[in-house]
Amino acid sequence: MQRRSLLILGGVAVAAGIGKVALSAMNAVSSPMQNESSGASGAIAQAQQDSSTLAQARKQPLLRFVATADTGSSNENQYAVAAAMTRYYQQNPYKLVVLAGDNIYTDGEIDKINSAFEQPYQALLKNGVVFRACLGNHDIRSANGDRQVQYPGFHMPGRYYTFRDKAVQFFVLDTNVNTDWSTQLPWLEKELSRSNAPWKIVYGHHPIYSSGVYGNTQGFIENLSPLFKKYGVQLYINGHEHSYERTRPINGTTYVITGNGGAHLRAVGRSPWTEYSASRYGFTAFEVFSDRINIQAIATDHQVFDRGTIPLKVA
Ligand SMILES: [Fe+2]
Repeated sequence: MQRRSLLILGGVAVAAGIGKVALSAMNAVSSPMQNESSGASGAIAQAQQDSSTLAQARKQPLLRFVATADTGSSNENQYAVAAAMTRYYQQNPYKLVVLAGDNIYTDGEIDKINSAFEQPYQALLKNGVVFRACLGNHDIRSANGDRQVQYPGFHMPGRYYTFRDKAVQFFVLDTNVNTDWSTQLPWLEKELSRSNAPWKIVYGHHPIYSSGVYGNTQGFIENLSPLFKKYGVQLYINGHEHSYERTRPINGTTYVITGNGGAHLRAVGRSPWTEYSASRYGFTAFEVFSDRINIQAIATDHQVFDRGTIPLKVA
């Protein structure tokens, strides 16, 4: 009986495909079976320990990252959000911050980079956390945002770009009014079509579905969302609305607005597809697993005020 349960335990580890830790746990399971002289109680204790190790392995995400937007106000609210991001990092280390635009208020002046970026996030930057930015409407007011694109701390290979981190491929858009969609849209479709990443996440500054003061962006609903559906984009992240909102999946895509990163808050309502919305300072944390993405909205007082999950749908 013990032998059968142990074998099942090992089978789960293989089926879940959860990597070296799980496999080492599975190997450890085989040891007491080979040495039955250690006795039943020893085997049970070993199985319990192994089960605990497996549970820990399952809890470890493939990738953890956070997202924030509408940050660059250099004010106490931005610093409070940054402090919350730092505290979360200390308890849940991450290597990536999605910085979804309006990185420097009011006019994207690069000479404010210290107060609007380097100071508030200094603890994260010192630890090697990588910020990957996109351009917001305020960012293009100076030199059309070119100096932000060139700023090394924003890790932008261009005005729009893609990068992959383990199981996730990110597609970063320039959603501003003066962007050249005649080149960006075909680029996006080409990159989406050739991606074999199980998780595809797109981010840009402007909303697509929103219950904030700007509301939906009809042009993006018509031109971007169909691509998301066609190529299985599970998540779109943006700011611009100075609030937080998470939708239920709309044609397979969850839309998360995290524009509560420092600029003055604005009201947000609800729509039929809204799972949760709040006008509250904070940031959003994402934990990517092989079978799901867990989402947490975290406030400056460190409270988790929204939780959601995106399950991986296998086509
Ligand atoms: Fe904006």
